[in-house]
Amino acid sequence: MIEHKRILLIISGGIAAYKSLELIRRLNERGATVRCVLTEGGARFVTPLSVAALSGGNVYTDLFSLTDESDMGHIRLSRESDLVVVAPASADLMAKMAAGLADDLASTVLLATDKPVLLAPAMNTMMWAHPATRRNRARLEEDGIGFVGPGAGDLACGEVGPGRMAEPEDILAAIEGALAGRGEGRLAAVRALVTSGPTHEPIDPVRYIANRSSGKQGHAIAGALGALGAEVVLVTGPTGEPDPPGARVVRIETAEQMLAACQAALPVDVAVCAAAVADWRVSHPANRKTKRNGAPPAALELQENPDILRTLSAMGRGRPTLVIGFAAETHDVVENAVQKRRDKGCDWILANDVSPDEGVFGGDHNRIHLIDETGVEPWPEATKVAVAAHLAERIAAAIADKGISV
Ligand code: CTP
Repeated sequence: MIEHKRILLIISGGIAAYKSLELIRRLNERGATVRCVLTEGGARFVTPLSVAALSGGNVYTDLFSLTDESDMGHIRLSRESDLVVVAPASADLMAKMAAGLADDLASTVLLATDKPVLLAPAMNTMMWAHPATRRNRARLEEDGIGFVGPGAGDLACGEVGPGRMAEPEDILAAIEGALAGRGEGRLAAVRALVTSGPTHEPIDPVRYIANRSSGKQGHAIAGALGALGAEVVLVTGPTGEPDPPGARVVRIETAEQMLAACQAALPVDVAVCAAAVADWRVSHPANRKTKRNGAPPAALELQENPDILRTLSAMGRGRPTLVIGFAAETHDVVENAVQKRRDKGCDWILANDVSPDEGVFGGDHNRIHLIDETGVEPWPEATKVAVAAHLAERIAAAIADKGISV
């Protein structure tokens, strides 16, 4: 997908700029041509010389530089690319883009481009959480701008939280996703259904039963399948994750709504159930808020929710060719997952350890054991985006083997 593509990489100011050098190297390895724009801030963190050395001299810094303009006008620069990537995207550059400002080469190129744009934000966690940045991000998403990251973790400023730029491998995966045109790629003409996130089961109009699922893994899988050209329907419970580019997103709250939305999405060739569906719902949710009344409420009466993975696996005619589930386990991970695959009747189970020590719920990493009818395959620990990309590759290979007519 990346080979022979022309990537315009804009590097704005932030300590994460050093990771962009690695990104250029990886893009070169994949056969892309990379041109770079360095903002004034970006040039404080990485030098034009190092960027030029890696990008074959294709580095531009100044809107008014005669050399740059005679060599390559900013309009040509923005149009003669297949994708514009901003990594790192600073809070300042996001604000300029959201407002449509064009007072330097980077912002002018971004305003002049007619190509897809992908941002990899990197900033202090308070800046990322600031209402102004949240507004800007929402506006940019409305404008069709794609996002990858940021992840959470230790930041260079010494604080901990969301704001860390996505790793180069994750940006590469997102670039593949953004470049995947409809009808191109190894999963072209394949329809995929992905479930993601938690479900919320109401107790009364203000309270519900939920779980800690962030939706990161499911959303990443939807993005990775789309990156290989699949037509993706993502059925998701409430999450803070951005919509994966190109996927049709159906938002639901309860397990019953999730099942109905999945059934409405059929027929599909592949179904990946990554949602953490609540096993139980309250039999009679109250219509009005339950008052405290000085005494604890009576015990909630619960009833079992439909099992979406089991339902899809047990379909006779019209069953997806490949049905894949997850097994969230805290102990005897592989043994339980092997059993779960049999119980549910799905083709593959991806087992993951969700003990609090592993930090899987809400975290950016995952360690998977893939279980199919032939056995157990441990995967190395990787980011959820990399796990998703690997799974999408495996699905593409399996579908090629099973001979779905594409
Ligand atoms: N799943 C589903 N519908 C449900 C419950 C689970 O589709 N009502 C799917 C999940 O999306 C996941 C797989 O089943 O792909 C296993 O989910 P998990 O929570 O690990 O297992 P449970 O079926 O809930 O079993 P247990 O709680 O006993 O581990």
